[in-house]
Amino acid sequence: MRNTLLAAGIATVAIATAGPARADVDNFTEVARGRYLVTTGDCMGCHIGPDGTSLAGGHLLETPFGMIAVPNITPDNETGIGKWSQQDFHGAMTRGVRPDGTHLYPAFPYTAFTRMTRKDIDDVYAYLRTLEPVNHAVDRDTLPFPFNVRMAMLGWNWLNFTPGEFRPDPNKSGEFNRGAYLVEGPGHCGLCHTPRNMLGGDQGGKHLEGGALQGWFAPNITADKRVGIGAWSQAEIVDYLRDGHTERGAASGPMAEVVTYSTSQMTEADLKAMATYLLERGAAAEPAPTVIAGSDARVQKGAAIYDDTCAACHVGDGSGVAGMFPRLRDNQLVRQADPTGVLRVILQGAQSASSPRMVTAPSMPALGWRLDDQQVADVATFIRNSWGNAAAAVTPDQVRAMREVTAGVASPAEH
Ligand code: HEC
Ligand code: HEC
Ligand code: HEC
Repeated sequence: MRNTLLAAGIATVAIATAGPARADVDNFTEVARGRYLVTTGDCMGCHIGPDGTSLAGGHLLETPFGMIAVPNITPDNETGIGKWSQQDFHGAMTRGVRPDGTHLYPAFPYTAFTRMTRKDIDDVYAYLRTLEPVNHAVDRDTLPFPFNVRMAMLGWNWLNFTPGEFRPDPNKSGEFNRGAYLVEGPGHCGLCHTPRNMLGGDQGGKHLEGGALQGWFAPNITADKRVGIGAWSQAEIVDYLRDGHTERGAASGPMAEVVTYSTSQMTEADLKAMATYLLERGAAAEPAPTVIAGSDARVQKGAAIYDDTCAACHVGDGSGVAGMFPRLRDNQLVRQADPTGVLRVILQGAQSASSPRMVTAPSMPALGWRLDDQQVADVATFIRNSWGNAAAAVTPDQVRAMREVTAGVASPAEH
């Protein structure tokens, strides 16, 4: 499946190069820049069409409010954005407003795209104009009342949204500012990695500190050394974003898609810039929880399950096998306050991203069918409190809730 998706990504690039031949070099540069920005913005990750190669939309995105349909953004006059002017497009990208004045839901990350420069947005528009128009009508009315009242977005915008282009920090390096632009603007990393408040807006002051999304957890990616990525080297962050793998962990689920469609296709310089920004922008110091002692009954039962079920791959001391099985020792996904990410992997297994450099990746088997709620809770509590990790115990209730969220979703490892 993921290989098909990857091939789809490559096919888009091919369509783009085969776009209308234009003599003037300036326009070619614009289109090429626009194509690259479409990659950094991961437009394909959401707007992919049923054909698997175009931006004709049709997917339903699961949000806390209900399902939102992703529209067709190919230049089709009837079902896409063929009739939109450059100015119309700019309005959608920076204010979340359609040409008819209706408001778009922030599942479309215009709250990040508003940080993009005018030139970059115009280049994205220029590139989209060169694509093959695809006639594909998408039913947009998928949300239940009252969230289907688009005017309500005005209230949301007023509460949560600061429009405006990115302003570089003159006291920081060019590389830091480039990284900040990519992370906060086109890359829209905060869409998943920042916790949401009840209205779906960013929780003030918690920027990039980790967010739960429909059964997945996008961990803290601030420079905090314990729960964030502060202990990663710049090279490790670059490897993760380019290949979806490091010894510290592998990208699965929504992050695997981000890697496949977006970061694996970004330049090395841009990946380094993002890593520099993430490592240098600082972090709020959070007090570490106290480790649950090895004498605790839950930890002891968990240790026995670990030896039986997990150690063959992750090794008895949690050190993993480089390039194959991620290490669980000193692993910040494992010790996030929110255990969603860990429970998801144990119950459902995981198949991480494929990338041009690493096409087939080892996968983690789903173990939810073999272990009951108490056993999953105990083994999770054990790995969260061993080998230098420390985090709150996991309860069987949390496991049951997680089974409900993931029910009916096929394990990625079973495809
Ligand atoms: C996380 C998923 C996601 C990503 C990434 C994303 N979009 Fe969207 N986009 C959406 C959704 C969902 C909507 C519809 C929102 C609504 O109906 O209110 C949308 C709407 C739009 C619209 C308005 C179209 C219309 O007819 O109303 C445009 C234009 C658009 N996106 C362009 C882009 C571009 C360009 C990129 C990449 C730079 C991009 N989007 C990336 C999810 C996404
Ligand atoms: C669509 C949601 C989404 C977006 C957008 C997203 N991420 Fe992620 N990210 C995740 C999820 C979910 C995980 C956890 C993956 C896992 O459990 O395997 C993750 C994991 C990571 C990790 C590994 C952290 C760890 O502790 O293991 C890094 C680093 C990361 N993302 C960086 C980024 C950057 C940089 C961007 C923007 C370019 C970004 N992400 C955009 C969802 C997202
Ligand atoms: C057959 C080998 C195998 C077994 C058995 C196994 N795992 Fe894994 N595990 C993997 C692989 C491979 C990955 C990386 C998956 C990916 O690519 O996302 C992984 C990933 C994980 C992760 C996510 C690590 C990260 O940072 O992304 C956790 C947590 C985890 N396993 C815990 C466990 C636990 C707990 C058990 C036993 C209950 C277990 N695993 C059994 C192979 C295995």
